[in-house]
Amino acid sequence: NKSQAWSALFSEPMSELVKRYTASVFFDKRLWKADIDGSLAHAEMLAAQGILSTEDHAAIQRGMAQIREEIEAGRFEWKLDLEDVHLNIEARLTELVGLAGKRLHTGRSRNDQVATDVRLWLRGEIDEIAQLLTALQLALVDVAEKNAETILPGFTHLQVAQPVAFGHHLLAYVEMFARDAERMADVRRRVNRLPLGAAALAGTSYPLDRERVARTLGMEAVCQNSLDAVSDRDFAIEFSAAAALVMVHVSRLSEELILWMSQSFGFIDLADRFCTGSSIMPQKKNPDVPELARGKSGRVVGHLMGLITLMKGQPLAYNKDNQEDKEPLFDTVDTLKDTLRIFAELAAGITVKPEAMERAAMRGYATATDLADYLVKKGLPFRDAHEVVAHAVKTAIAEGRDLSALSLDALKAFDARIEADVFDVLSLRGSLNARNILGGTAPDQVRAQVARHRARLA
Ligand code: ARG
Repeated sequence: NKSQAWSALFSEPMSELVKRYTASVFFDKRLWKADIDGSLAHAEMLAAQGILSTEDHAAIQRGMAQIREEIEAGRFEWKLDLEDVHLNIEARLTELVGLAGKRLHTGRSRNDQVATDVRLWLRGEIDEIAQLLTALQLALVDVAEKNAETILPGFTHLQVAQPVAFGHHLLAYVEMFARDAERMADVRRRVNRLPLGAAALAGTSYPLDRERVARTLGMEAVCQNSLDAVSDRDFAIEFSAAAALVMVHVSRLSEELILWMSQSFGFIDLADRFCTGSSIMPQKKNPDVPELARGKSGRVVGHLMGLITLMKGQPLAYNKDNQEDKEPLFDTVDTLKDTLRIFAELAAGITVKPEAMERAAMRGYATATDLADYLVKKGLPFRDAHEVVAHAVKTAIAEGRDLSALSLDALKAFDARIEADVFDVLSLRGSLNARNILGGTAPDQVRAQVARHRARLA
């Protein structure tokens, strides 16, 4: 069976089932660009070190250029018999340029090759994800800016707590996505290291210049231990963890969008293009996109579990188990990129219903803390003020009225220190404006944060 790179030793061909079971070409072919770039950098270094002749190097460059064209044009014939992306490209190179193609693999193993390819590919994807995270943050900042004054009931325990600006609420998500971007940038530093030169596991006897290959490929460092270089997949796990966290943040936002759009809240509407109807209930408009994003977060978290479990029992160095890193990693990247893209558009299509938000804030005695703070400023200790206001709220609930709808006399009955100026603090807007502290919800603070984010994201 001459089609396999290691076939001379074997006395019988692989069964079709085993071939299908062990092959990865139908998913790892998406590493083709990284594979060619890695091979070209390796060949360039082999030539510079005098391990490969100038003619062979030129032939490899020519052959790879043609393979690149063939793949881009969809004319490249991927063969299951050739197992993976690496052997498919190498076999085609040898078809095209003969002996030079066979010399490319000098001082290299598929073990350091695949680790290099995945890192190169993932580095490019991280850069795209960073841009998508920026776009999503900017989209949220836009909506936040328009809603620096919009009153939303802030919740704890999903019970109305204190009024917040809707813009302030959205900027909480901007903070999460900003940290996600930092995490991605940090992961990138450890992704961007070069395994090539580790060969199968022990290094190689050829005088390779690994630093040169790292420079050619724009990598920040060379992996310093050959065993670790071929077997480490921490970088993929770390990336998955960062990706899972992005999806968890998207999922929390999704949950809120879904709640806010339900009739019981009625705080927002999502553009029709992000929703679907029902085949039986003519009145339905369902927030499918956030629901799916919430669902897909489970899938990305699952991939993280898959990858980290893949690693736990592996002895050094390379094991074929590692071939199983690709599908979860690819699906994580695809799911994350699609989700970020769609959410940037979705954010821009949110219709805010400020009256409904304000009505809901009114219903929940959201300014009770402000009344307590008012009494504290008049000399009452906070714990006592808390108690006084609890009585006032109890009465207001019994009468089915808001605190601000009680008469001054009725309020005075709870504490004589209460005067006419109390009605300023009982208003939602007064409560909002009062929280004019760094990180607080006052509209001026929200606008300052909007400006900070814009400067940071520019
Ligand atoms: N397709 C393999 C992978 O994804 C490439 C490396 C295989 N090396 C080996 N000796 N079988 O990990």
